[in-house]
Amino acid sequence: MALEHIDTDYKLEHFMADGLLPDLAFLYRRISDATVATVAEAPPGSAVDVGSGASRELARLAQMGWQTYAVDPSAHMLGVSRLLQGEATIQLVRAIGERLPFADESLDVVACQAALDHFADRFAFMEEAARVVKPQGRVIVSLNNFEGLSCKLGRLLHPLARASRLHHCADWPCWQIPPDHTFKGDWQVVQELGQSRLKLERAYGVSLLCMFYGWGHLLHRLPDGLAQRLLRLADRIAYGRPAWSDVIVSIWRPIAG
Ligand SMILES: C[S@@+](CC[C@H](N)C(=O)[O-])C[C@H]1O[C@@H](n2cnc3c(N)ncnc32)[C@H](O)[C@@H]1O
Repeated sequence: MALEHIDTDYKLEHFMADGLLPDLAFLYRRISDATVATVAEAPPGSAVDVGSGASRELARLAQMGWQTYAVDPSAHMLGVSRLLQGEATIQLVRAIGERLPFADESLDVVACQAALDHFADRFAFMEEAARVVKPQGRVIVSLNNFEGLSCKLGRLLHPLARASRLHHCADWPCWQIPPDHTFKGDWQVVQELGQSRLKLERAYGVSLLCMFYGWGHLLHRLPDGLAQRLLRLADRIAYGRPAWSDVIVSIWRPIAG
């Protein structure tokens, strides 16, 4: 593992932006709801969120009776978690996903939301997740999909969009990998994450067409009720088609070793 690539200095402003267009605001809300709902399919137990950022999901799970641990190497993000969520409900741990400071088979759920593509070594994290999760527990990973419909169509239509005003609708072309990502996530990559330690139980997609040319601006101009209905419809289509979706949620169980 190339430890020098570990980002210990992640800051809130790297992730959140003010004045989000409706498609991105919906995506952030949906990923968060998806993580909480998927963890909460099991009765309350112990859960760690690795690359927890501001720990919003853990705060919601703690309210539902879960014993929660936030793991992040960024002192800044742990400080944000402490400030926003309080330390009483969530135990904050400064560590990296590639070396989890938990005993073997000690946790009911290991979650990793929109963070794996920031890790120096995704396979080392999955190994660690398989080690610390209980035999009946689950590992839940959500990952940005850079080969979804939005990215594929965006790439295809790019020359056309450049020749038109639509070019200006994409502040950041959705298929371009941000500089702080360590690899390109897609459905193929997700399916290969488990190696010999974790078995993919199921996967679903979250959101469709996020950041596609003009989509966010169009939704912004529509009455809010209609925009939200369209976003929910697209999300329902994405659910059964993880390869097309903007974010892929994968649920893993440990393989008895
Ligand atoms: C895009 S943020 C996601 C935060 C949060 N999970 C969310 O969805 O809002 C990525 C997070 O991963 C953390 N991170 C980066 N490298 C990591 C590593 N090797 N192990 C654990 N977390 C890491 C960063 O500090 C940052 O808080």
